[in-house]
Amino acid sequence: MEEIDKEKLPRHIAIIMDGNGRWAKKKNLSRISGHIKGVDAVREVVTACRDLGVGVLTLYAFSMENWQRPKEEVEALMELLRDYLLKECEEMVSNNIRLSAIGRLEDLPANVRTTLEEVMKKTGSCNGMILNLALSYGGRSEILHAVREILSDFKKGKIKEEEIDLPFFSRYLWTRGLPDPDLLIRTSGEFRISNFLLYQIAYTELYLTETLWPDFNREELLKALADYQSRERRFGLTSEQINGL
Ligand code: IPE
Ligand code: IPE
Ligand code: MG
Repeated sequence: MEEIDKEKLPRHIAIIMDGNGRWAKKKNLSRISGHIKGVDAVREVVTACRDLGVGVLTLYAFSMENWQRPKEEVEALMELLRDYLLKECEEMVSNNIRLSAIGRLEDLPANVRTTLEEVMKKTGSCNGMILNLALSYGGRSEILHAVREILSDFKKGKIKEEEIDLPFFSRYLWTRGLPDPDLLIRTSGEFRISNFLLYQIAYTELYLTETLWPDFNREELLKALADYQSRERRFGLTSEQINGL
């Protein structure tokens, strides 16, 4: 078992949950079976993060690009998402987990959106952990959306040009109010970002693992955390500066 320093936990962990399809293929199962097994991994990781005391967990559940997958797969993913929300709502409330979501939520099927809003409302006053789902999410669109909103507020005279600095800009992103991720995990051995949190990961530590998402569990999470805790985050400074030498 990995030793984790509870004082040095990431405040925000973001995960690109990848490899459900390949997990299924290896077992001669349908891609959808891989997604079903992936939901079990979600449950385990959410619980583990809550137990550890992580503040925010952002899960990349569906990208804007994922709409282009075969219709049956998209439909199955939407159904699984709704099912997960319906089944987990009570558990979230009893574990004091607040659900939030980022992305073009207006693209989601009406019943998924309604369920999502219901669960967000029911968990609205929970303050133990934020479970943030990225749904129909795209990092570039998020930035573009922010620029458009700023322009619109500027035209209405609500804001002045001088106000537009980095903290101001962050407040126009879908992640407003959330700290930037300290740790980004991607499963399944891919070395890419796939349009995830482009603006927010400027200084995030990356952890890439060959493990396919359905096989990711508490133990794998602890491994990622141990690796994260062994790193020195320098934010452009020298090691001597960081260590006060
Ligand atoms: C991740 O697994 C789940 C989603 C993107 C919704 P994939 O479905 O991308 O699995 P692979 O990459 O095909 O193995
Ligand atoms: C990224 O995985 C999106 C999610 C995990 C939801 P993809 O499987 O869609 O990414 P690419 O296509 O391999 O870059
Ligand atoms: Mg994939």
